[in-house]
Amino acid sequence: MDFKGQVIQSLQQVLPVEMAPEKLNSLLEIPKSGKLGDLAFPTFILAKEMHQSPVEIAADLAKKIDAAAFEKVQAVGPYLNFFLDEQKFSQQILETILTQQAKFGEQDLGQGGNVPIDMSSPNIAKPMSMGHLRSTVIGNSLAKLLEKVNYQPIKINHLGDWGTQFGKLITAYKLWGSEEEVKKDPINKLLEYYVHFHQVDVKHPELDDQAREWFRKLEDGDPEAMELWKWFRKISLQTFMKVYDRLGVEFDSYNGEAFYNDKMAEIVEILADKGLLHESRGAQIVDLSKYHLNPALIKKTDGATLYITRDLAAAVYRKRTYHFVQSLYVVGSEQTNHFKQLKAVLHEMGADWSDQIHHIPFGLITSGGHKLSTRAGRVILLEKVLDDAVALAQKQIEQKNPGLKHKAEVAKAVGVGAVVFHDLKNNRMDNFDFNLEEVVRFEGETGPYVQYTHARAESILRKSGKNLGELPDQLRISSQINLEAWGIVKKLADFPTMIERAVTEYEPSVIAKYALHLAKAFNQYYAHNRVLNDDAGLNGRLALVEAVAIVLKEALRLLGVKAPDEM
Ligand code: ARG
Repeated sequence: MDFKGQVIQSLQQVLPVEMAPEKLNSLLEIPKSGKLGDLAFPTFILAKEMHQSPVEIAADLAKKIDAAAFEKVQAVGPYLNFFLDEQKFSQQILETILTQQAKFGEQDLGQGGNVPIDMSSPNIAKPMSMGHLRSTVIGNSLAKLLEKVNYQPIKINHLGDWGTQFGKLITAYKLWGSEEEVKKDPINKLLEYYVHFHQVDVKHPELDDQAREWFRKLEDGDPEAMELWKWFRKISLQTFMKVYDRLGVEFDSYNGEAFYNDKMAEIVEILADKGLLHESRGAQIVDLSKYHLNPALIKKTDGATLYITRDLAAAVYRKRTYHFVQSLYVVGSEQTNHFKQLKAVLHEMGADWSDQIHHIPFGLITSGGHKLSTRAGRVILLEKVLDDAVALAQKQIEQKNPGLKHKAEVAKAVGVGAVVFHDLKNNRMDNFDFNLEEVVRFEGETGPYVQYTHARAESILRKSGKNLGELPDQLRISSQINLEAWGIVKKLADFPTMIERAVTEYEPSVIAKYALHLAKAFNQYYAHNRVLNDDAGLNGRLALVEAVAIVLKEALRLLGVKAPDEM
């Protein structure tokens, strides 16, 4: 239990009225001056009920409260001030962490409830963009965070594998494609054909008719069209899998847009039955003006269904299949309106669960302050970014620790981890700049800095030669915790609260920033204290080092970043 929890518990024992822990939690204040204690309970709220002045109430509570867990408890005016006992508190928190190890910070916010996370979801036959990378790493971290607080995440890769563009792609492939070429470099070749189609069809509009015809065939299940489509999907997925492997991300489902082909008729029927479908210039729409949104386009003039129609079917399918308590969509902020429309249409359809759907938007990655764009040549190729990051990490390891075993493996963990960490350390809505040299630095606000700090802590523990499993019992003989150590202990105790905040705000950056602060505090401590000095405080200091190692490793794990023991 953290300090606040201790205060709440002892208050509950003496308060003359029932008050829920959540209520007390919101009432407690941090006094402006340390002289007034570490937490203060304002008694005003009790005055009416108790027919006493707040000052009297505070004085009365101060007499009754059990102060054993604290340095002291004092009434000052209308406030009851709690002074925490740093020794007792430190011992308790370190014992908890050393006993629970990686389980430290687990909580039961979710009660096992299912939470599908729509994440990554690139479009087949096209390269995965930096936006898809962001969605992948944010989604992956959210899944781990949700699991930590006892939700059951379900990671869904809603592949963009259906739509009129596949009519164009098949047309292009039939005209200019070669199986050999595609096999060598699938995605780039397919993209090339597709781009070529758009260059040519300006002068040859009959190509558009062919494309429409191929898409119609595809929707009708024509064998030739289907076979080509399946092949495009398969080779695209193989390329995507390489990226997922390197990032260490796995999915529970690859049901993409095409999966919902036979599930949309029902949606259209419900919409029609409820009188929600209107014709507008030959197309079928749902009017959303009362939500101040543009109409949702459900069916095109030619009867073809659309992105949102597939998303409606997917939302209903997920509700039926997973009985979710929340349903998340980690998709760039440019699709905010789409998800507003999706929720609004579901609401109109009578889905009382539409407010369990949450779009988790995120900002852009820029380069030199500019939006990435294929046309301006500011593309960042994901594979290349990861390769370069690993090479850079390898170079630095070579300098810092030439004798390291498993160098290549560590370089992979550091290079890839650096890219992931950089993506997660900013508030997800902020746009951020990508500069590889910055990202892979071993100092500053980087992933490698946190990894390096963790490895340093592990190395101290190895050098101590102690059997760390025995430490919890020996903590009692720890000497005085000094001021710097106290700063670390307070941070360690914050970890569960940080996890809760990251989950409720869907914001992995809370954990990334926390890890950076903890690493910094630890390095400061290490610079001024001889941990391995053989005196009475040794066990206490080692316990502190081990607790830091445990929490840093777990924080990195929650971000999807590995923590090598040596680097
Ligand atoms: N494939 C889409 C894109 O790349 C993202 C899909 C997001 N998920 C969804 N259920 N709409 O823009």
